[in-house]
Amino acid sequence: MRGFAHRQRAQQMGLRREDVLGKPCIAIVNTWSDLSPCHAHLRERAESIKRGVLMAGGVPFELPALSLGEVMVKPTTMLYRNLLAMEVEELLRSHPVDGVVLLAGCDKTTPGTVMGAVSAGYPTIFCAAGPMLNDRHTQRTATGCETRTVGAGTHTKLFWDEHQAGRLSDAEWVQLESRMTRSPGTCNTMGTASTMTNIVEALGLALPGSTAIPAMDAAHVRHATSCGERIVQMVREGLTPSKILTRGAFLNAAAVQMALGGSTNAAIHILAMAGRAGVELTLADLDRLGREIPVLANLFPSGDRLMEDFHYAGGLPALMNRLRDMLSLDEMTVTGRTLRDNLQGRESLDDEVIRPLSRPVSDSGALAVLQGNLAPASAVMKASAASPKFFRHRGRALVFDGPGEMMARIHDPDLDVDEDTVLVLRGGGPVGAPGMPEWGNLPIPKKLLAAGVRDMLRLSDARMSGTHYGSCVLHISPESAVGGPLALVRNGDLIELDLPARTLTLCIDDAELAERRAAWQPAPSPFARGFTRLYQQHVTQAHEGCDFDFLQGTAPTPEPPIY
Ligand code: FES
Repeated sequence: MRGFAHRQRAQQMGLRREDVLGKPCIAIVNTWSDLSPCHAHLRERAESIKRGVLMAGGVPFELPALSLGEVMVKPTTMLYRNLLAMEVEELLRSHPVDGVVLLAGCDKTTPGTVMGAVSAGYPTIFCAAGPMLNDRHTQRTATGCETRTVGAGTHTKLFWDEHQAGRLSDAEWVQLESRMTRSPGTCNTMGTASTMTNIVEALGLALPGSTAIPAMDAAHVRHATSCGERIVQMVREGLTPSKILTRGAFLNAAAVQMALGGSTNAAIHILAMAGRAGVELTLADLDRLGREIPVLANLFPSGDRLMEDFHYAGGLPALMNRLRDMLSLDEMTVTGRTLRDNLQGRESLDDEVIRPLSRPVSDSGALAVLQGNLAPASAVMKASAASPKFFRHRGRALVFDGPGEMMARIHDPDLDVDEDTVLVLRGGGPVGAPGMPEWGNLPIPKKLLAAGVRDMLRLSDARMSGTHYGSCVLHISPESAVGGPLALVRNGDLIELDLPARTLTLCIDDAELAERRAAWQPAPSPFARGFTRLYQQHVTQAHEGCDFDFLQGTAPTPEPPIY
């Protein structure tokens, strides 16, 4: 009876009985929308995927999902990552499908769709939106013209600081609006988007070398067709995520994050994805890999190239080949073959973009995990994008309670601040903000920018854009809103960072800290209803992946009853 109704309704949509009878039904979960420029081309790519599905003998069905354009969504897409994950899981569970192609790529659409699909458990392949094309910016100089290759995010921050310092005119700043984001596709620096798509490829959920293909390259269209073709075969082989996502696969992915100089945001998303797969993975694993694996990818913000260059240099398979002695090569992947097989013959084609181990971009590591009385659970720092002079630093705190207060005061010419001051922002965590926005790259006070200062030690319980750089200690956990020690810091307190020792210390004695804790009161939440209320009640802390507590793990969910 149910099958009759499904076939009847398929025929209502113009499909013939023989078009669907006995064929694998493939969902194409598409995160396209008119307000997601990184995904602007995904409607066309969905058509290519459908072609591949049909050629392989399956039936494609496109299912739209929440589109989270990073720059367009307020207050932050992070608030909605778990909502997207829930939507994808329930879309798949509630519809008559056998396998899924995930069509995504912006910062949160990658982990969100993957988390949902892993929990649903159907054969899954990830088709990354692909990075946007490189852009160029030409300026007249005293001696002629200077042309720079520019990319999204990193250069916005760099030019903004120049503008704030008075070294870039208003007219130039306006002109730059049309530079840096040249085409549809995801940010072309090694920001969160590229970090996450590469991590998903390293996990074995995407075809080898696919995530670096530029969004506007014909190869990207062909790749989408291949995803459609392959998912039908995966359904026939019964190749589910549970056969791919082992602890070894997650350690491979974390190793890749380090070698890429990837975004600190990945530390949260990779823990959340592992939690969905039932794999034990902790920040201690990431810190160990951060110490062992140097940054090899010469990509902004740790290096000076862009994703298009990474693609021409051989992409992720070439990078993983450089790391092969540190990887678990017997892990299964969506190709139906192991990582070892996939890496065969995939060598680096440009040693300036994918550096050899003997000549890394940085050996200070992409991610360091800190602990101390200021971060009892953890905090993270992207050492490869920080100034070495702050690796060991002691300075007095200047504290801001939220971005409103910070923006009202930070550029005050009378602000009591110098380049050794430690800027502290609180109220930026998953519960407090809520949604843990990318506020962690606190602005440098204008008067210091004008004096030539370009970096300061900055601390927060917020995140930082993966395209940004600077000496920023992030994800301090537990966050201030739930009573973490960050809530107890006062102006003038001494704070000490020792990056080599991985410690972050508020230099006051335990008795004083206890006294301040006893006097602390949580702020009441203004969110009495709706998704934000649900979020505040159930989101976990940064060191646990910020998933909802009721979505973690692999406990079976009963199929919806039908008759
Ligand atoms: Fe979508 Fe950067 S804004 S990837």
